Amino acid sequence: MSRRKHLVAPSVLSADFAHLYDDIAMINQSDADWFHIDIMDGVFVPNISFGFPVLASIAHYARKPLDVHLMIVEPDKYIKQFKEAGADNITVHFEACTHLNRTIHAIKELDCNAGVAINPHTPVSLLHEIVEVVDVVCLMSVNPGFGGQKFIEGTYRKIKELRSLAAGRNDSLLIEIDGGVSSHNALALLKAGADVLVAGNFVFAAKNPIHAIAELKGITPDLVSA
Ligand code: DX5
Ligand code: ZN
Repeated sequence: MSRRKHLVAPSVLSADFAHLYDDIAMINQSDADWFHIDIMDGVFVPNISFGFPVLASIAHYARKPLDVHLMIVEPDKYIKQFKEAGADNITVHFEACTHLNRTIHAIKELDCNAGVAINPHTPVSLLHEIVEVVDVVCLMSVNPGFGGQKFIEGTYRKIKELRSLAAGRNDSLLIEIDGGVSSHNALALLKAGADVLVAGNFVFAAKNPIHAIAELKGITPDLVSA
């Protein structure tokens, strides 16, 4: 059975911020599907990235959807501003939301796609009541906060669990994998059931980022025998 083509989302966190326009133009020209934008507040995660002015500047030049990953506490306070700054998808962390159902509906009311991310220690089973109402589940395959970390192998099992949790209840759910994704694990991730591959270090540390993106996009799990 053929499946929908997976998506590739380069993580701008690993870009050269002094030459951000060049990296945006590179992603525009590449086979990438989305821009993955990491917002970190120094509270939910032990790092601070960037905020609205940088996101709005990226949005001004980006020609592909902006997938905004909020690693912040109290995301409800800011989702409207993220929409106004150009977000197309807004993903909040399960661990940061006391009223996750309300937050997801608030994102959808802004006409954004809504995502929920879970940290490596958070079990997929906790998504039981939310899996029907989200567009994207982002499985963190590193502890969030930094690019360039080592992929956590338990992610494969979580992808399979999530696919079966969503089966028949949300068949259009996109399973996104974020952290330590490279050409070494991409095929196995897609075979396990991933739909979106986020990649920061693998793309931006490559000699030729356009080729690195094409490599991730060009993988065809259907053609490889299981
Ligand atoms: C980590 C971020 C990721 C990160 C991925 O907290 O959410 O999006 O930029 O970077 P790599 O692919 O280098 O692990
Ligand atoms: Zn991310």
